[in-house]
Amino acid sequence: MAKVFSGIQPTGIVHIGNYLGAVKNWVKLQNEHDCIFSIVDLHSLTIPYEPKSLNQRVLDALATNIAAGLDPEKSSIFVQSLVPEHTELSWLLTTITPVGNLERMTQYKEKSEKQGLLAGLLCYPILMAADILLYKAELVPVGEDQLQHLEITRVIARKFNSTFGEYFPEPQPNLTKATRVMALNDPACKMSKSISGSYIALTDSPEEITNKVKRAVTASDVDGKMSPGVANLFTLLEAFAPQDVYQKFMKDFNTGTLKFSELKPALAEAIITELTPIREKRTELLAKPKILEEIVEAGTKRAKKEASENMQEIKELMGLKLHF
Ligand code: TRP
Repeated sequence: MAKVFSGIQPTGIVHIGNYLGAVKNWVKLQNEHDCIFSIVDLHSLTIPYEPKSLNQRVLDALATNIAAGLDPEKSSIFVQSLVPEHTELSWLLTTITPVGNLERMTQYKEKSEKQGLLAGLLCYPILMAADILLYKAELVPVGEDQLQHLEITRVIARKFNSTFGEYFPEPQPNLTKATRVMALNDPACKMSKSISGSYIALTDSPEEITNKVKRAVTASDVDGKMSPGVANLFTLLEAFAPQDVYQKFMKDFNTGTLKFSELKPALAEAIITELTPIREKRTELLAKPKILEEIVEAGTKRAKKEASENMQEIKELMGLKLHF
């Protein structure tokens, strides 16, 4: 049983690409490992935001992820800013992090081009390293876009261990089988919440799901080779529909008898079947914030206990514990 940590940005809309790449995998991990999941509100401050709406986004992220299967009986779920040790460790780690490594991060380059050169964007990966190392996590489920940040986390862990004494395990990524979900209206781009019409949100109604799938771009296949739009529909079918349904349509495709008038409704139905209970549970949780509060309280208590114990040891190693 490994110690698992992952952070979830409170970004608002969660689409099926996010869902397949993240929480659906975590639901499996929590049956086999000791998992801690955090809504990383402090990380989200690096993107311009409206302070009044942050609280709702955090509640939304909690409700959505719990509704999608994160089970407070099996794993701990808490909000990052409620455990101040994250920020505290982050500072300690800045003192051993080479700026060159930070400046090489793709996300830093992209974001700072749009937002300007902010120290928060540069130091973002240090806070992420603090999240992970604070719990001595060994396994970190992330998408490919976070691999670079995890590499820096290992650099920092090694540097700490060689400077102050062996303490942190070097955390390894747990990559989900690459389900690259493309935009429904433009299969050349990734599905994204910033392109309307490209995504199906976890909160979409059955009618919206049916309509979006119906409008999905297919384009005809060249020489029996699947077009990107059709390939995307098959990716989704494989992820959401029962095996035999997927295989039936694959066979249709291979024998040249595939009908979109059959494939699309079947795909829409499979997505609706999986998302309906999630949507209902999410609405129920948001209507009863007391339940959410209790879950976060329990998760925070556990996180805080581990964080403060480890922090004591880290400070001792760094010579920060005062002995008179
Ligand atoms: N940077 C991650 C993302 O954008 C979120 C994150 C913050 C995280 N802290 C983490 C992920 C620790 C894994 C472990 O998706």
